[in-house]
Amino acid sequence: MRKTALLFCLFSLFASLTTDALAQNNTGNFAAGNKEFLLNGKPFIIRAGELHYSRIPKAYWDNRIKLCKAMGMNTICIYLFWNYHEQQQGVFDFTGQKDVAEFVRLIQQNGMYCILRPGPYVCAEWDMGGLPWWLLKKKELKVRKLSDDFFMERVQIYIKEAAKQLAPLQIQHGGPIVMVQVENEYGTWGNDQKYMETMRDNIREAGFDKVQLLRCDWSSNFQRYQLDGAVNALNFGAGSNIDDQFRKFREVNPTSPLMCGEYWTGWFDQWGRPHETRDIKSFIGSLKDMMDRKISFSLYMAHGGTSFGQWAGANAPAYAPTTSSYDYNAPIDEAGNPTDKFYAIRDLLKNYLQEGEILPSIPQNPEKTITIQAIQFSQIANLFDNLPEAKQSESIQSMEYFNQGWGSILYRKQLAACNHTQKLIIKEVHDWATVFIDGKVIAKLDRRRSENSIEIPVLKASSRLDILVEGMGRVNYGEAIIDRKGITDKVILSDGKSDTELKNWLVYNFPVDYDFQQKAKFAHNPATGPAWYKALFNLTETGYTYLNMSTWGKGMVWINSYNLGRFWKIGPTQTLCVPGCYLKKGSNEIIVLDLDKPTFASIAGLNHPILDVIGKDDSHFQKEAKSLNLNGVNPVVSGTFTPESGWKAVTFEEPIAGRYFCFEALSAQNANDPSTSAAEIEMIGEDGKAISSINWKVVYVDSEETIKAANGADKLFDIQESIIWQTKIGDKTKHPHLVAIDMGKEVTLKGFRILPRTDKSTVGIIKEYRFYLEKKAFKF
Ligand code: GLA
Repeated sequence: MRKTALLFCLFSLFASLTTDALAQNNTGNFAAGNKEFLLNGKPFIIRAGELHYSRIPKAYWDNRIKLCKAMGMNTICIYLFWNYHEQQQGVFDFTGQKDVAEFVRLIQQNGMYCILRPGPYVCAEWDMGGLPWWLLKKKELKVRKLSDDFFMERVQIYIKEAAKQLAPLQIQHGGPIVMVQVENEYGTWGNDQKYMETMRDNIREAGFDKVQLLRCDWSSNFQRYQLDGAVNALNFGAGSNIDDQFRKFREVNPTSPLMCGEYWTGWFDQWGRPHETRDIKSFIGSLKDMMDRKISFSLYMAHGGTSFGQWAGANAPAYAPTTSSYDYNAPIDEAGNPTDKFYAIRDLLKNYLQEGEILPSIPQNPEKTITIQAIQFSQIANLFDNLPEAKQSESIQSMEYFNQGWGSILYRKQLAACNHTQKLIIKEVHDWATVFIDGKVIAKLDRRRSENSIEIPVLKASSRLDILVEGMGRVNYGEAIIDRKGITDKVILSDGKSDTELKNWLVYNFPVDYDFQQKAKFAHNPATGPAWYKALFNLTETGYTYLNMSTWGKGMVWINSYNLGRFWKIGPTQTLCVPGCYLKKGSNEIIVLDLDKPTFASIAGLNHPILDVIGKDDSHFQKEAKSLNLNGVNPVVSGTFTPESGWKAVTFEEPIAGRYFCFEALSAQNANDPSTSAAEIEMIGEDGKAISSINWKVVYVDSEETIKAANGADKLFDIQESIIWQTKIGDKTKHPHLVAIDMGKEVTLKGFRILPRTDKSTVGIIKEYRFYLEKKAFKF
């Protein structure tokens, strides 16, 4: 036995020496040449598929890479997630599931190349866009800015650690890494060229000193900064008009190779909003256009997988947390199975292979899909009977202050008796709060709806106030990214005449680690409120499976210590995906934390996901049926837009102050088209820059599509150019169509600009319009 082990060790040593030696002999080169990429001096069209090692259990890494190759890819594009590797400041982990160098080596073993995107900011629907939560312990933190020394110093340390792992894998050292991306879509955030140059230099100095650098932006914002030494890719969505996307870019960069840095195969889902899909036909159409024009691309995502545990992020404005399923309607589904989109891509790309290239056969999924028997829960641990040690805090503080990264936090204090009702104002709820008086639920507050105040009933005696706040995903996009969790400012008690800030709290932290959950004291008790539920279940075989969570409220699930992610009855995701490698033959343990309450404490096993069922949700992004009364309100400006694509800017005769604006579409470019659509609207301040939309709220819209697609009016200011507002699909109601927005405070505007939809469709593109701006709220 011992002898065999020794022989095996010697063999492995020999094997690794030879592969290293081979790799070193095999050094190569990759660079942006004149209008084309050059791999070892020869023209090369990148056909990349994006995979996230953190969203795929390590056991399946190789299979997913092979699937990408079989789909027609020659390159894998990856993000590096800073916060995944440095979960506590200064403690880096690149082992096991986090061994990204191993993932990159697998790419090479499969004869593919790698594009590395180490951020530090990555977006990716990932908690805080990949930035570590502990940065938020610094009070006045600024991110993605040179002016924050702490941020800049920590970025440098991180990039150096990343380079220790991955710089040896640059193609010039014999590895598969052909390009390294600097930052991510910086044009959507700022225009500070020095910041980008510093990020580039950090990457170079850390050891990525030979590889071709890359940057990615949008066709509308790539000119916001220059970055010498980096080739520029543009990102856009399924079905985009390729000539339009590259028109300006070609003019400005006539010798640059063309690449779509992220060609979005589908889109991500947000809690309470319809499931996102992207039609195969239009997706394939634009992909073919790119191939015909020899444009390199990266499919975002080739396979999305799952944002396990607490890793799913959120978008804002309006705050919209992302679901744990990152299926993305991608060509390879969440459990690693090829979909129709996969076959369509393979079918297309087989006609565009490089000389000598052969499409490999499609690898089998290492796991079959199984259905497990319904699991019944009888062991219960009530949250209020299992409080961790309390901390005392004079003023309200966020989770991060207490060194807690993710999970829930409970704030407790006694309220004096009071013979009239009072108002409790919580500033701000991040993200979902349940308020209890003497253990009884009196209200639930949801940040998605900007809810922050409730009525406290008459208190006959001194009563205990408990505010349990669950943090959902941290915002991963736009200026709301500084997103502390818990209660972020203060709590005020108001009797109508005076306001008192409540002080002296007891605070209890509920992290998401398995060790914490399993410490709860389970018993055969009834649940009295938020609670953990535990069960054991037996399996005779393992495989991919789905847990149907639709009878549960809101919370998280751990199986055999693995945190599967979040569930929420409002959908659209109703299932949690369980990778086969998380299960065992024999006895398995499951723990559910439900912060709301199940209607039925049982989980049915399914052999398919449910990704598209919106459950009961009190929230209504659709404003109540009321009609806007514009009688006596004069438009500031009216006019006609030309039909071509791109932003349309309108300047007022003189700057005007106001807080509420209304945009009225009077007709469409196609005279018979009754609908209206637009991708973005921006208000331009006196300095000529777009004012922040972070606190905007839609106060009225006459029609919006929120059932068949997530195309509500708030998509007008979500800073995502590929996502539109449109009137209800199929709605024949004629123009005008109106949307009114409260900007949260009075601002002085020089004008506004609006972006028509950016896909190939022309439905709803606005022709004539009127624009109103008022200091006082509109009447209904
Ligand atoms: C952008 C980002 C990605 C991802 C996609 C949407 O392109 O660069 O990280 O967030 O949007 O899925």
